[in-house]
Order: sequence, then structure tokens, then C-alpha cells
Amino acid sequence: MLVTRMRGDGLYDANSDMQRCILEAVSPLIDYAAVRAQIPTERTFTIVDYGCSEGRNSVESVKKIIRCVRNRDKSKWISVLHNDLPRNNFNRLFENLYANPQNSYLDSADDELAHLGGKVFAFASAASFYGRVAPDESVDFAISSSAAHWLSVLPDYSIRQHIFHAFAEPEEKRKLSRLAARDWQRFLLARAAEMASGARMVLTMGGRRLCEDGGLDDFGGREIFVLMNDVLKELVDEHRIMRAAYERFSLPIYCRSVEEVRAPFNDNQSPLPDQFTVEYAETHNQKCDRFERLRLFGAPSDYAEAVVETVRAYAQPVLEQGLFGTTEQLSKEHSKTLEILFSRMKDTIVKEPNRYVFEPVSLFVVLARN
Ligand SMILES: C[S@@+](CC[C@H](N)C(=O)[O-])C[C@H]1O[C@@H](n2cnc3c(N)ncnc32)[C@H](O)[C@@H]1O
Repeated sequence: MLVTRMRGDGLYDANSDMQRCILEAVSPLIDYAAVRAQIPTERTFTIVDYGCSEGRNSVESVKKIIRCVRNRDKSKWISVLHNDLPRNNFNRLFENLYANPQNSYLDSADDELAHLGGKVFAFASAASFYGRVAPDESVDFAISSSAAHWLSVLPDYSIRQHIFHAFAEPEEKRKLSRLAARDWQRFLLARAAEMASGARMVLTMGGRRLCEDGGLDDFGGREIFVLMNDVLKELVDEHRIMRAAYERFSLPIYCRSVEEVRAPFNDNQSPLPDQFTVEYAETHNQKCDRFERLRLFGAPSDYAEAVVETVRAYAQPVLEQGLFGTTEQLSKEHSKTLEILFSRMKDTIVKEPNRYVFEPVSLFVVLARN
């Protein structure tokens, strides 16, 4: 079973500008949801970030939510629960919070809030968000950004001739969509138990627009995934990666369509239509200034570096495990193979930066807990 994990040692934080841009783009929906989330009278206001990673982006988004809550109730005590999988670099998350006060949301870091006397508390939870993460009816604001497209599990050989689900064969696609539907349902049922009535949830995740005439759906990063797959196939031909390992492996990611996101709320057999109201669900083409500037006006090598390092920050740990069977230190040979993968991807992008436009489709969702 593949264990999802971003690169540690600050490498995810340093290479997640696209995810940061996604959070900036969803910011009006965070404001919308934060002014509507019910503030409990008898207990603290609880915010949970599901899939927080190393925390640079998580801390920023939580800060926005806290400001909105504080505008409504200046003295409310607030608990923040940062959730991710057990192998996540939580140390870095707490460094982001405590070692860097000017970027933190803790009251001590903010003159305006400091006089209120430290009413914000940060906690961590290392459990899969496909199960329960918080107690019953305790969550008032749930956020999850660029995380719910990671599947709980992806059986071996799910996609034999590619690494990304959009390029799977029709029968493989049907199986993957069932798997993704089951995960989405599990994610929602767990949140339904955790969220209090009147709570709000804001989600961003990798999305896709269905192609009407049976062609390839639009998910925004097409050429980059094609390139990664092509280079992996070259490495198989060069005997650097075993063919069986390539066929067994695929990225455990599924970009949902709006229709797939809405499906469980239209299912009469499910409790979800009574538990949630969908306030918003739309796809969005995500541009990021940094990538646009580099592609249009920068040196092609800087653009290639930025794109490939972003992909590497989220994909390298699953490639290591899926292709070479390790979650620990890679052998020299295998490390070299991955270096070749990423450097060939860069070399190709340098030659044609405009072919490799980095503009993923993101899906924004706002749910109200009834
Ligand atoms: C691309 S990062 C996004 C981090 C952050 N939310 C942001 O916007 O930059 C995705 C995170 O989701 C986490 N994740 C994936 N599957 C998860 C699961 N089942 N439960 C909890 N976290 C999960 C990964 O470990 C990773 O840290």
C-alpha cells in the first residue's frame, strides 16, 4: 500500500507556491464561510485543517479564518487542529507556528490580538482524514486544501500503461472512479460526525472538467503528466526501473469532476443529503503569478526548475515507495534514477516552456453542516 507523504525538510513548504495560490484564490469563499459558521456559546471555536503538510500554507489559511471569527467575537477561545498522516513533518509545522511569530496566527505574534491574552491553541492530529480525526460535533470550521484528491489506497496495477488516472484505459477508469467515490463518501461521513450543526467546510482539491465528446477530460496539467510518464518509460527501456514496478505503480491521486463531488448529495440512499448543504462547487483554472512571470518573462531554466520542483515535492515519496519499494533511505542507484527523471523533465521543459503551462484545474467546494 502506498503511503502518501510530501517531501520533508522544508522542501514541501519551499515548493508549494501553486498550493498557496490556490488558497489565495479560495480566500473569498473562506471569508464567506467564516462569517456564516455558527460560533458555539458553550465551548471553544474549533478549526481543523485536514491535510496540513509542513504548515506554511496551513498557518496562512488558518490565520484568515481566525481573523474572520475574531471580527465577530473578539474574545472567543479558538482551538486549531492541524491534521495530516503520521509520517508528515509536524516538527516543521510547529516551527512555522512558534519560531516565526510574525507569520503565526498565535495571539502572541499579533499586537492587536496579544492583549486578549493568548486565546488561540494549536494541536496536531496524525490520523487519516478518511477516518475520524476529531470528537463528535466538535468542529466549527473545516478546511482542506489540495489534499482530498489523494486516495486512501490505490491497488497495484490500477493503471498499467500510465501513472495518472486521466490516461487510464476505460475499464481502469471505471474502477478508479468507484474507488474515488468511496473515498469521497468516507471523507464526508467522517466530517459529518465531527462537524457541529451550522459549521462550514471549505475544500479545494485537484479537479477536472468532463470532455463531452469522449476525449480526454481537462485537468490542467496534461503535458506535465505526459512528460513524467514518457521519461519513466524511457527509464524502463534503459533498465533503470523494472517494467513490473512501472506497471504496478501509479500516482494515488484522483481529480474529481463537479458531478462526482455532488453525486453523494443527490443519493437518496445516503445520509449525506440531510447532513450537508452544498453552498458552492465549481472548477477553477488555477494560475499562479510566480509561474506565469517565470514562463513569460524569466529564464526557461528557472521556469523548468520551479515546475519540476513543485511536482517533485509532492510526488517523490510515492515514486520512491511505488517504484523501489522503500519508505526509508533510497539506494544510490535508485536516487540517481530519480535525479535523472527530474533532470530530464527539466531539460524538456526548458526547450518548450509554453508547451508545459502549469495551470491545474482546482475544484472549490463549500459545505454547510445542517
Ligand atoms: C499537497 S499537500 C497540501 C498541504 C496544504 N494543505 C497546502 O495547501 O499546501 C497534501 C497533504 O495531504 C496529506 N494527506 C493525503 N492523504 C491524507 C489522509 N488520508 N489523511 C490526512 N492527510 C492526508 C498529505 O500527507 C499532504 O501533506
